[in-house]
Amino acid sequence: MSSGYLVKDVLKEITTALEPFIERASREAQLLLMYHLSVDELWLLTNQNSSVENIEKLFEWVKRRTKNEPLEYITKRVSFYSEEFYIAKGALIPRPETELLIDEVLKNAPNRDSEIRFVEVGVGSGIISIMLAKFFPRAKIIAVDISQDALNIAKINIEKFGFENRIELRLGSLLEPIHEHIDYLISNPPYIADDEKLESNLSYEPQNALFGGEIGDEIIKKLLDELLSRNINLFTCEMGYDQKDKIQNYLSDKTLKNLDFYKDFSGFDRGFTLRL
Ligand SMILES: C[S@@+](CC[C@H](N)C(=O)[O-])C[C@H]1O[C@@H](n2cnc3c(N)ncnc32)[C@H](O)[C@@H]1O
Repeated sequence: MSSGYLVKDVLKEITTALEPFIERASREAQLLLMYHLSVDELWLLTNQNSSVENIEKLFEWVKRRTKNEPLEYITKRVSFYSEEFYIAKGALIPRPETELLIDEVLKNAPNRDSEIRFVEVGVGSGIISIMLAKFFPRAKIIAVDISQDALNIAKINIEKFGFENRIELRLGSLLEPIHEHIDYLISNPPYIADDEKLESNLSYEPQNALFGGEIGDEIIKKLLDELLSRNINLFTCEMGYDQKDKIQNYLSDKTLKNLDFYKDFSGFDRGFTLRL
């Protein structure tokens, strides 16, 4: 039996409901309805008089969005490097600038066919390790996180992409669960200072994925210590836009020669690669 709600009317109603709260209300209304109906944009445009069922669930999503909950947590999907991943509240929503970290690894890693062992610290939803597995077909990846919730989400994505045999997940802090030799260390660690006031939508994300300590760069510095003590040759890491000087000052002149920073899409310093 039809609910009596037509696509065109639902779109209008949810756009109006979202407008006071978010900027791209009409676009997000389309996205929510597309996810709700499991249809694409073309279908939505050409089926304006079709009926929409299970409307209560859709209105519940809209209500969550008016409270600034990120769209990705509501729809449980996120795109990264042109791929679609599962996402849920236990893991950070991947950010577009992290695609640049992947590009940086592609620039610095030995050739794509090498049997390299990557270690990722802070795997979150798994996006970085999964892209590395795609780009380096003979690589093995060990991915660590301190959060079991994040590991559960990463596992779903790893299975979705069929990389169970090449990406191993381990629970623990930093490199503590790694006893093997590491060819290339990768991380997008939490790097925001504990007392920084953030926008309300960030309160939905796991706080241990965002905050890196009193100054913010503590985890990065711990990873640099590990790198030097374990003789790891390559390290690519994302960082805060204002952390370049702190990282340079932390390293000796000898190491500094092999440090290259990269910028994000807005021209801010966003990360570095260190070759030892
Ligand atoms: C900024 S998120 C990055 C997630 C994912 N790699 C990405 O780029 O979207 C940082 C991740 O580091 C994890 N983390 C925080 N402290 C950690 C630690 N001491 N050891 C390992 N992982 C840690 C958090 O749980 C979170 O999943």
